[in-house]
Amino acid sequence: MRSKIVAGNWKMNKNLEETNTLLAELVQKMPDTSAEVMVAPTFVNLSAAVQSLAGSRIEVVAQNMHFEESGAFTGEIAPGMLKNIGVNTVILGHSERRAYFGETDGLLKKKVDTALAQGMRIIFCFGEELDDRKSGKHFDLVERQLRNALFHLPTEAWKHIVLAYEPVWAIGTGETASPEQAQEMHAFIRKTLESSYGSDIAQGVTILYGGSVKPGNASEIFSKPDVDGGLIGGAALKADDFIGIINGI
Ligand code: 13P
Repeated sequence: MRSKIVAGNWKMNKNLEETNTLLAELVQKMPDTSAEVMVAPTFVNLSAAVQSLAGSRIEVVAQNMHFEESGAFTGEIAPGMLKNIGVNTVILGHSERRAYFGETDGLLKKKVDTALAQGMRIIFCFGEELDDRKSGKHFDLVERQLRNALFHLPTEAWKHIVLAYEPVWAIGTGETASPEQAQEMHAFIRKTLESSYGSDIAQGVTILYGGSVKPGNASEIFSKPDVDGGLIGGAALKADDFIGIINGI
């Protein structure tokens, strides 16, 4: 049985005070759910978030990390630093990192290897742009993103990987992939995994959907057999919305 996950990617939002307020509200309102619940505040507030969530069932995860373990990389954060403050999971390959910070499949491959070497769990994001979908290239593109950054991994690495399919055209746009579109792509991803790693891995990997998930559409998307939860942006910034989404799983 693969795990269900609802993760909130806060992106570059919430100062320290706002972080503490939102986390306190989430702890207070957290429903009884079998899903894993995660939040990803900005780097400067990770330590505070770990402390304020101690003893709760919400995990704090990072939005990014560097591929080296230390060194002269001004402005960057090493995976060991994250682990040292109690952050054991990292989001890699978010489309905003790819689009605005030039992250390529090759760079992400290096980040994946370093995160795994540090014993971290990875939420690996990928997904097509609108033009790719309009021209019918979305399956090829997604397969290439996965193969380039992840398919060099040995079988045992996959228990540390969560996949997050986030079609770029649905991120922050209010336009959601239909539950059928999400299911179709998630099934394709599992088939692609199966072709290289076999059915146990393909059936065991958690695949999240991300892109304008809201309390009103979450349960329908999550009801699809290959959708194991969501990576939530805007709606993770309001406690009631995030809780509403968790209730949809
Ligand atoms: P939105 O939920 O705001 O569309 O963002 C999705 C996302 O990018 C999560 O990583």
